[in-house]
Amino acid sequence: MDTNELLSHAIKARRNSYSPYSNFSVGAAVYACGKIYEGCNIENASYGLTMCAERVAIFKAVSDGCRKIEKIAIFASSMPYPCGACLQVMEEFCSEDCEVIIATPEKMEKYKLKDLLPHPFSKDAL
Ligand code: THU
Repeated sequence: MDTNELLSHAIKARRNSYSPYSNFSVGAAVYACGKIYEGCNIENASYGLTMCAERVAIFKAVSDGCRKIEKIAIFASSMPYPCGACLQVMEEFCSEDCEVIIATPEKMEKYKLKDLLPHPFSKDAL
C-alpha cells in the first residue's frame, strides 16, 4: 500500500473528527485484507470515553473480519504519536512488520510497530 495514498485517507477521515473538548482533530487509516478502513477521534462530555482515531479505524477493520493490519497512517496538526492504549490494540491486530506512518501537514515519520512498542504484552504470554 502506497504511503501517500493511505495518508490521504487519514487526512480525509480527520474531517469527521468529533473533538469539541480538545479541539485536536485526528484522522487514521489502516490497510488490512486489501482494503482501507478510516477512523477519526470521537470525544465525549464524559472525557474518559473518548476514542482515538487509530482504534476507531482498527475496530472497523476487525468488525469487518480483517484481523491482520499491515500499515497504519495517522494525521493531525501536530505529531499524533499513538497513545499506549492504541499501541496495545495495534499489537493485537498488526502484522509483525506493520508500518506506522505519523504525519502533520509539515512532516512525516515512518516507524515499525516494534520501534514504538518494543516490549509489548502479547497473547503469547497467556
Ligand atoms: N488522539 C487520537 O485520536 N490519536 C492519537 O494518536 C493521540 C490522541 C485524540 C484523543 C483526543 O480526542 C485528542 O486526540 C486529544 O487527546
